[in-house]
Amino acid sequence: MSNTERILITGASGQLGVELTMHLRARHGADNVIATDVRDNKAVSGTGPFEQLDVLDSDSLAAMVRRHRIGTIYHLAAILSAKGEADIRWTWKLNMDGLLNVLELARDEGAAASTRMEIFWPSSIAVFGPDLPRENTPQECPLNPTTVYGITKLAGEQLCAYYHRKFGVDVRSLRFPGLIGNKSEPGGGTTDYSVDMLRAAAAGESFVCPVRPETRLPMMYMDDAVRAATDLMDADGSKLRVRSSYNITAMSFSPKELLDAIRAHVNGFDVAYRPDHRAEIASSWPDSIDDSAARRDWGWEPKFDLPDMVREML
Ligand code: SER
Repeated sequence: MSNTERILITGASGQLGVELTMHLRARHGADNVIATDVRDNKAVSGTGPFEQLDVLDSDSLAAMVRRHRIGTIYHLAAILSAKGEADIRWTWKLNMDGLLNVLELARDEGAAASTRMEIFWPSSIAVFGPDLPRENTPQECPLNPTTVYGITKLAGEQLCAYYHRKFGVDVRSLRFPGLIGNKSEPGGGTTDYSVDMLRAAAAGESFVCPVRPETRLPMMYMDDAVRAATDLMDADGSKLRVRSSYNITAMSFSPKELLDAIRAHVNGFDVAYRPDHRAEIASSWPDSIDDSAARRDWGWEPKFDLPDMVREML
């Protein structure tokens, strides 16, 4: 990797950020991966360069990119679906202005430098609303999100497509389903119930589930999510026909199906159901996703299904 190909990660202390930072450091060398976040997390600050960065501070972001000669940004900093409902204005500001700062910087750097910057930005199944076919939800369909988080992801997808079309910014994106991993804490998402249920089972505790027992959602084990992001960034850009965001999935399950899969390993694990506002969000999202465009354009294929994921997590 040359000096202009260093990687910067925003939101590196978050659930996906920690695992992506560790993966990229193992692959490219710790010094070539600059982890940033507003809050410190020893998992990333203890394993390589870490800088405190607020993505709303565009001057500091630009200075950091120039100082470290960054060629690729994984822009992960965002507020998720369940938490976002508690502060609409703040969720809009952080999620939209953060992305806009990164896209504007990539446009400026692209105009000034001989090498172009590459951006990864995660979208989400939250762009979908209740008016769609819930099974095998297609890549192209009317998008009517029900949360402010989903609205920011939909607007963000459109911004990514616009910056690519108008300014040639090489921004690539995935509509992640619920992400499940055991090396970092999830925070503020609707799909986090699955991680919380697995943790309770592993700790020998009972669990109160905020989502209804039969509500199925698309999900993905963290190893697949990290590989999906890096495979997309490695792909030949001329083959990428979707410049908003790719549908992507690995498995689908309901809380009841997850409970059954856990009980294959943990005897007597008990779950009670107390649906709250997260149950309403969950029931507005798809049961399963058609990710054939990702398979076709850059060879996406998941490795972990429900039994694999549960075994790894426990
Ligand atoms: N996992 C996210 C959430 O539940 C969806 O992108 O908010």
